[in-house]
Amino acid sequence: MKVIAVTGGAQGIGRAVAYAFATRGYAVSIADPADDAGAEVVDAIHRLGLPAIHETADVGTPADIGRWMERTAAELGCPDVLVNNAGIGRRAPFLELTAEDFDRVVAVNLRGTFLCSQAAARCMAARGQGGAIVNIASTRAFMSEPGTEAYSATKGGIVALTHAMAISLGPQRIRVNCVSPGWIETADWQYSARAHKPAHSERDCEQHPVGRVGVPEDVAEACVFLAESAPFVTGQNLVVDGGMTVKMIYEE
Ligand SMILES: NC(=O)c1ccc[n+]([C@@H]2O[C@H](COP(=O)([O-])OP(=O)(O)OC[C@H]3O[C@@H](n4cnc5c(N)ncnc54)[C@H](O)[C@@H]3O)[C@@H](O)[C@H]2O)c1
Repeated sequence: MKVIAVTGGAQGIGRAVAYAFATRGYAVSIADPADDAGAEVVDAIHRLGLPAIHETADVGTPADIGRWMERTAAELGCPDVLVNNAGIGRRAPFLELTAEDFDRVVAVNLRGTFLCSQAAARCMAARGQGGAIVNIASTRAFMSEPGTEAYSATKGGIVALTHAMAISLGPQRIRVNCVSPGWIETADWQYSARAHKPAHSERDCEQHPVGRVGVPEDVAEACVFLAESAPFVTGQNLVVDGGMTVKMIYEE
């Protein structure tokens, strides 16, 4: 049985990723600090008759990553696929953003992606059967609103880290790609006790050439494609944004 490891898999896009791979027969390992939400996902995957584990882990803490990866290998086996999905933001006016907040976003989003990839790649390389890593970046790697420096910088870093790792890990037959989601409404994939779905206006939908805001399944299916059906694709960034970032806006 193949194994997927997904960070931040208890809620939102990561939860949809966990389900998308589970419904294709993967055993699932989740690292997420959210205990109740993690337990809920594990229960649901067990009900599908598939193995799943949740480790209470913060990818900003290196020891947590080591513990999670060791437990994954021991209980499920070496991951065939790693999806680095966990991500946080610290939105603040540029002149007020603190070094501590900047560092925390880097530690979770960028260093966490590096360390989880390194831990999974060690396991994949030792096993000798290759593997796939998919990093979740963002269209904010390429365009911005005010006050998003920490988040945008880490997402740009993830795009660069992706092609660097693709080159380094090519000899081990480990492909590394990233997905850059645009606006994704995650309400349906939050912990059940907290889920609240906002309404989207016509204008929200019209910003997207496909006519709607994205859903976590859109991103999850892109991850499945890159992991399962793209053996000649590595080092790439796949934008999943309903066309939002290629649409010109002229206010007349
Ligand atoms: N939702 C969007 O519109 C959107 C757009 C572009 C990119 N993204 C990216 O997609 C990823 C998932 O976003 P989402 O909207 O589903 O988020 P979310 O907030 O809905 O869920 C994130 C999950 O990650 C977990 N998490 C938070 N900090 C963590 C940590 N330090 N270690 C491990 N897990 C942690 C949370 O507990 C939660 O379960 C993020 O990397 C985000 O930057 C989201």
